[in-house]
Amino acid sequence: MTTISPALDLACRSALGARTELIREVQNGLQSRPRSLKPWMLYDELGSRLFEQITALSEYYPTRTERSLLERRTDAIVASACADSQPLRVVELGAGTASKTCLLLAAAVRKRIEVIYMPLDVSADALEIACRGIESAFPEVLLEPVVVNYVDSPPKLEDFDGSTLALYLGSSIGNFMPQESRTILRNIGSQLRNGDALVLGTDLVKEESILIAAYDDNEGVTAAFNLNVLNRLNNELGADFDPTGFRHRARWNPVASRIEMHLECVRDQYVEIASAELELHFREGETIHTENSYKFTDNTLDALLSDSGLKIESTWKDERSWYAVTLSRRLDEDQCDRK
Ligand SMILES: C[S@@+](CC[C@H](N)C(=O)[O-])C[C@H]1O[C@@H](n2cnc3c(N)ncnc32)[C@H](O)[C@@H]1O
Repeated sequence: MTTISPALDLACRSALGARTELIREVQNGLQSRPRSLKPWMLYDELGSRLFEQITALSEYYPTRTERSLLERRTDAIVASACADSQPLRVVELGAGTASKTCLLLAAAVRKRIEVIYMPLDVSADALEIACRGIESAFPEVLLEPVVVNYVDSPPKLEDFDGSTLALYLGSSIGNFMPQESRTILRNIGSQLRNGDALVLGTDLVKEESILIAAYDDNEGVTAAFNLNVLNRLNNELGADFDPTGFRHRARWNPVASRIEMHLECVRDQYVEIASAELELHFREGETIHTENSYKFTDNTLDALLSDSGLKIESTWKDERSWYAVTLSRRLDEDQCDRK
C-alpha cells in the first residue's frame, strides 16, 4: 500500500525539534563573526518553492545538466544497484521535490521489482510535493519519507532484505565544509552492503562568470531565495528584519573553490529576534554568510569519495565537463556482509 501520511505525521512531530534547532543555530550563527546562518534554513515552504524556480532558470545549469546525465543512464544505474528480482530500496539525502529521482524510479518500476523510496529532507513541504507526485505517477512504489536534518541526525538504515541505492543529487554535498561532507558520506557509505551503490551529483569548477550567474540570476530569483531566510526568521522566531535593509551577494572564493552566498547589510540597523532573545546591531557593509557551494575537480571529487570510504566505479560528465554524476561502492566492499 502506498501512503504519504508518514510524511505529514513526521512533519508535525518534528516541528518542535526543528524550532529548537533553528533558535540554537540563529543564536550561534548571528552572534559569531563573521555572522552566518546554516543553508538548511533557506528551505522553508517559500524557500523550497523558490529553489524549484531556480532549477528552471537559464543561468542555473546544474539541474538540467544532472537531469540529462541521469536520463541516459537510468537503466544502467538501476541494474548496477540491484540484482534481478530483488527488492530495491532507494534512499535519498536532501531529496527536495525529487523531480530527477522519478527517472530512476521509473526505470526500477520497469524492472517489475518491489521498490521502496525513502526520501530524507529537512523540508516537509518539499517532501510532500515529492510524495504526492510519486504516488500518482508510480502507485506501486512504497513511500517511506522522513523529515530530518541529516547532519544533526545522521540516518541509520534498518536491515533490508534487498539492495540499496543511495542518492545524493543536486550537488547538495557542495553545501558542506570538506570535513562535514566526508562525515555525511562516510555515514551513508558505511551502511551500504555488497552490491549497493551511491549515486552522487557534483558541480565542477568552471569559469567564474558562469558560476556567478548561476547564483545571481537576472530575474532575481536567487536573491529572493537568499533574502527569504530573513522572512523565515520573522515568521518563525518573531524577528523584525526588514529584508530591504539587506542585499544578496554571490562571490567566488577561488582558494576554497566555492561560491559563497551572503546577505549584505545596506544600512546601519538594529534587529530584534524575540524567540531567540537577541537584539543585534548590524553595521552597513556587514554580511551574513548563508550558503557555500563547493565546486570540485576530478582530483578533489576522487579524494572526497575515497576519504569517505567509497570507490568510484563510474563517472559521467556532460560534454563541457560542467557537472559529474558518479556511481560509487563501499571501498571495503569485500568485507561487507554477503546478502
Ligand atoms: C540543493 S537542494 C537539492 C534538491 C534535490 N535533491 C535536487 O537535486 O534538486 C537541497 C535540498 O536538501 C535539503 N536540505 C538541505 N540541508 C539539509 C539537511 N541538513 N538535512 C536534510 N535536508 C537538507 C533542502 O531542504 C533541499 O530540499
